[in-house]
Amino acid sequence: MRNPFKPTAGARPPLLVGRTDALEGFREGLEDGSGSPGLLTIFTGPRGIGKTVMLSAAEDLAREHGWIVISETATRGLMVRLAEAMIAHRDELGDGPPNRRITAFIAAGFGLTTELPPEHQVAWRELATDLLRVLDTHATGLLITIDEIHAVDRGDLLELAAVIQHLIREDLPISLLMAGIPKAVSDLLNEDVSTFLRRADRIDLGDVLLSDVRAALARTFIDTGISLTDTQLTRAAAATEGYPFLIQLVGHQVWRRAVDGALTDEAVDAGIVAARNRLGTTVLQASLADLSDVDRAFLAKMAGNDGPVALALIADQLGRTKKYAGVYRRRLIDAGVIVDAGWGLIDFAVPHLRAYLRAKNE
Ligand SMILES: Nc1ncnc2c1ncn2[C@@H]1O[C@H](COP(=O)(O)OP(=O)(O)OP(=O)(O)O)[C@@H](O)[C@H]1O
Ligand SMILES: [Mg+2]
Repeated sequence: MRNPFKPTAGARPPLLVGRTDALEGFREGLEDGSGSPGLLTIFTGPRGIGKTVMLSAAEDLAREHGWIVISETATRGLMVRLAEAMIAHRDELGDGPPNRRITAFIAAGFGLTTELPPEHQVAWRELATDLLRVLDTHATGLLITIDEIHAVDRGDLLELAAVIQHLIREDLPISLLMAGIPKAVSDLLNEDVSTFLRRADRIDLGDVLLSDVRAALARTFIDTGISLTDTQLTRAAAATEGYPFLIQLVGHQVWRRAVDGALTDEAVDAGIVAARNRLGTTVLQASLADLSDVDRAFLAKMAGNDGPVALALIADQLGRTKKYAGVYRRRLIDAGVIVDAGWGLIDFAVPHLRAYLRAKNE
């Protein structure tokens, strides 16, 4: 039997733990149709919390309701790819011949639609309207998901927002779900570009309840023919700290240590240790790799403290001004590595980063 756990970014977990509420608004939106608030939602949260997986879960739900899904990431050329996907769907569904004019300019490979003359931008809107009308007559709709929205080209966002707003105004069945790092998303929404997107529902994903983790682990192990004692289950669940990426890592590492459908206490403990190490070499190392030397020095100082720490103290320890430290504070918040803990305090966004840095500095 194959290991059911999926400790990989974006991979669908065997069970989506503790996210029923977060999906409820969208589920209602699918029933209620155009204009329902849950159809325009932004999921935010730190690395590894399950943003991409939430989008996938919403996509599955949409498909179950017969909706068409376009799944995208906010990288260069987003609008062109969206338009291409829409054309493909419309040609598949619609009766009329494909609109050559639109196809032509997209095929010609204009990378930035924002640089296109206004008549082409109108074409984009007409294309979307056409497709949505067809879907509406079939009593379905279109879901567009955009991951890593914080990295979006501002021109693309402006254009996309205008189109979506138009479709909603026309009472057409459109849904736009986005996901990104909290602080960067807030900044994005505070810019002038997106008065419309500011009205989107915002769901901040956090750690999940240990009781839910325990139940999910129990089921996944039982379903794959492995039995754990109550104590083993409790210990494994506690080790995840409710952090979704760690749920998969702990599950994966414990599962592979089972022999003949059972686990010794030692095997469970070894699995937990291995999972923690993996967290270090995957999520944590990856988030550190993107950072500068000063960023890392800043984090190393933070790791010397047991909980949230004052920026002023870090500045002091770095031998720099508070203003200088403030620049790095901002950079690290934008990167989703640390969070503003209020009252001039900052803290790590992802559990274990502190412990990992300490272990590394030793
Ligand atoms: N609700 C959940 N229950 C169980 N496992 C989950 C849940 N959400 C996510 N996971 C698992 O956690 C890991 C990280 O999920 P995902 O890639 O969606 O996070 P993310 O927030 O998109 O991270 P990043 O910011 O790095 O893109 C994956 O292995 C996924 O299977
Ligand atoms: Mg992701």
